[in-house]
Amino acid sequence: MQAILLVGGLGTRLRPLTLTTPKQMLPMLHRPMIEHVVSGLARHGVERVVMALGYHDDAFRAAYPDGRCAGVEVCCVVEPEPLDTAGAIRFACEASGMVADGGTFLAANGDVITDLDVGAMLRLHRSSGAEATIHLIEVDDLSRFGVAVTGAGGRVTAFVEKPSPPAPSNWINAGTYLMEPSVIGRIARGRRVSVEREVFPAMVADGTLWALRQNTYWVDAGTPQTYLQAQLDLLDGRRGPAADGVSVEAAVDPDAVVERSVVMAGAVVGAGSAVRGSAVHSGAVIEAGATVLDSVVGSGATIGRGARVTGRSLIGEGSAVEPGATLSGARVPEAA
Ligand code: GDD
Ligand code: MG
Repeated sequence: MQAILLVGGLGTRLRPLTLTTPKQMLPMLHRPMIEHVVSGLARHGVERVVMALGYHDDAFRAAYPDGRCAGVEVCCVVEPEPLDTAGAIRFACEASGMVADGGTFLAANGDVITDLDVGAMLRLHRSSGAEATIHLIEVDDLSRFGVAVTGAGGRVTAFVEKPSPPAPSNWINAGTYLMEPSVIGRIARGRRVSVEREVFPAMVADGTLWALRQNTYWVDAGTPQTYLQAQLDLLDGRRGPAADGVSVEAAVDPDAVVERSVVMAGAVVGAGSAVRGSAVHSGAVIEAGATVLDSVVGSGATIGRGARVTGRSLIGEGSAVEPGATLSGARVPEAA
């Protein structure tokens, strides 16, 4: 099985972190987000991944120069301009030569961290004769997702991207798809096409879209809250043995408190400071007496003495928070 990963978005909700690093290359625990996604797929038999790149494509190509990511063969393709989710799938299929292979393929949003059972999805896909099958999970807050309604056996009878309330169901598109090559023929060439707004609704009208409802572990790590949550879940052991968040190559003062946090290699946490529910990226410095709570401190950033950074603040790579400053829900520098 081959997979196309959509990793060309701007990551606006994670600015300013994504101004310098594309979303899927942001560290999650101690390795880039994309590696968590690829190793999850590899556990389910995916042997080759095509990365559909755009924004900051150089970061991915530099990280995987030998064409391997998390032990899987990767092929990078770069859209000449952003073609949106379906446009990117078509472009990736054609540019990588995958379309010539002619078999069922997987496509997924590159910010989805999940323990989805792809095998179960494939069984449904085969037994239903679907043209495409999508993974659905049940959530309470539907506002930022695509919402699907299913009928007998899992056939999708309605698909609405980011609907205004009331939403037609509580089951949302979880961002992993199995597709037959015929889907590519539905996608116009050379312009932006959204798989969620154009292609899925057209398939619903033709009765060829199916869905697997599976409430497994799932996070779309594309917001400050979920980007942190995905890491806390690993630290808390919600997905296997609890991970250690503090790198052996970090310098944490014995008189500092680090709780439920990631502190990456080369980071320095000074005396009397406290880091809780947060991620401190490589080479960042938390000076003495500072507090970092529920926030992300980008690579090489500095939190000055006695400063308080809380409430899902995002401190961009190399930025500085003044000593004694108090920030809550801040973006430094303020995102454009
Ligand atoms: N190559 C490429 N080109 N990739 C793109 C483009 C593009 O033009 N636009 C977006 N992407 C990538 C993003 O990098 C991301 O990995 C994925 O496509 C989805 O984009 P997001 O911006 O993260 O979408 P979303 O989170 O608002 O909504 C999507 O995911 C939800 C579940 O996580 C939709 O698929 C929803 O229907 C879904 O519920
Ligand atoms: Mg997303």
